[in-house]
Amino acid sequence: MAVSGGIAAYKSAELVRLLRKKGADVRVVMTRSALQFISPLTFQALSGNPVHTELLDAEAENAMGHINLARWADKIVIAPATADTIAKLSHGLADDLLSTLCLAATCPVYVAPAMNQAMWHKPVTQDNVKRLIAYGITMIGPGQGEQACGETGYGRMSEPAEICERLWAEPAAPYLHGRKVLISAGPTREPLDPVRYITNRSSGKMGYALARAALKAGARVTLVSGPVALAPPANADVIRVETAAQMHEAVISRAEAHDIYIGAAAVADYTPVAVQPEKIKKQDEQTTITLQKTRDILAEVAQLARRPFTVGFAAETHDLETYALGKLTTKKLDMIAANWVGRDHVGFDSEQNALQVFWADGRQTLSMTGKLHLAEQLISLIAKRYDEKNTA
Ligand SMILES: Cc1cc2nc3c(=O)[nH]c(=O)nc-3n(C[C@H](O)[C@H](O)[C@H](O)COP(=O)(O)O)c2cc1C
Repeated sequence: MAVSGGIAAYKSAELVRLLRKKGADVRVVMTRSALQFISPLTFQALSGNPVHTELLDAEAENAMGHINLARWADKIVIAPATADTIAKLSHGLADDLLSTLCLAATCPVYVAPAMNQAMWHKPVTQDNVKRLIAYGITMIGPGQGEQACGETGYGRMSEPAEICERLWAEPAAPYLHGRKVLISAGPTREPLDPVRYITNRSSGKMGYALARAALKAGARVTLVSGPVALAPPANADVIRVETAAQMHEAVISRAEAHDIYIGAAAVADYTPVAVQPEKIKKQDEQTTITLQKTRDILAEVAQLARRPFTVGFAAETHDLETYALGKLTTKKLDMIAANWVGRDHVGFDSEQNALQVFWADGRQTLSMTGKLHLAEQLISLIAKRYDEKNTA
């Protein structure tokens, strides 16, 4: 949310509260003029995040600068938007944090104007508004009524509840529209004999949540799934496999026909050298099973001639960052999402998770939340990185 210097800035505090109540993660940017109307402390307390005010601030740039803020946001709303800010945006100026952020943003931008009715009706303001609409920015309001200056007419900022509803009602842009996304999910089963197998604790929940999130983002989704107890998402093309070898075949044969591959399956690293044709009998006190390495699906996808944007997962019990960064470089991945496993209530088979996401020149923490919400954030991040790679 961006706040510019109008008297209606006090209403924005209520907007932050309402957005947070809906479950949104809110970061507030204020112009220098806005600081004269309301304290950043108010927004900091209500949003639970530091408030951003300066474009040229080395410390803020390290923490979350204007480009990162622009990438982070799913939506930007400017409330109140002054005549001055509208004029700046309509001409592509970028001389403060708010205007630079809007210029750098690829997400939908909403503008809630608030100004004196004469300022609103001025042809120059109306021209600026038309220009913003032509550039794809959505106007919310203004409303009509009594104004702070004592006049009556158009120019009142829309009520926070109305702005909140509009933001909520409009789906985020289907940012993967037309893209083909291949996702592998769940565990594999490596048979020992006709009745036994080696497997792992993966439930497939994260992979299935990613499939739903990618579908919601407009993608066409192929889901290669190991054995799980989950209902497949409607509209996904689901391919069921059991062993690591079957998963390898299913993924490799399809990967080049997809734009993005997300390897969220927990594929067995080793498989028994031989599957006994008959049930192994209980005989000796100890027995040995010889295992051989399975093929590395992620690394092979990343080496294909027409490789998709390749995203790996790292589930680690220790040294998360070291292992994740190691996998990113040795397997030549575009991105890796790492999470802790073997701890209570996170990772495998839990409803919640948190991720550390790494790519060649950046990283982002997605904090603990439900797997579907987390999947939506990861899909949004993947889509942004994918776009950047393909427009670079
Ligand atoms: C008391 C006061 C109230 C103001 N209210 C508004 C307003 O509601 N809308 C507006 O467009 N400008 C208003 N202004 C003028 C802006 O603050 C001024 O144009 C400023 O340069 C806007 O900067 P910004 O767009 O970077 O925030 C007001 C100015 C003052 C002193």
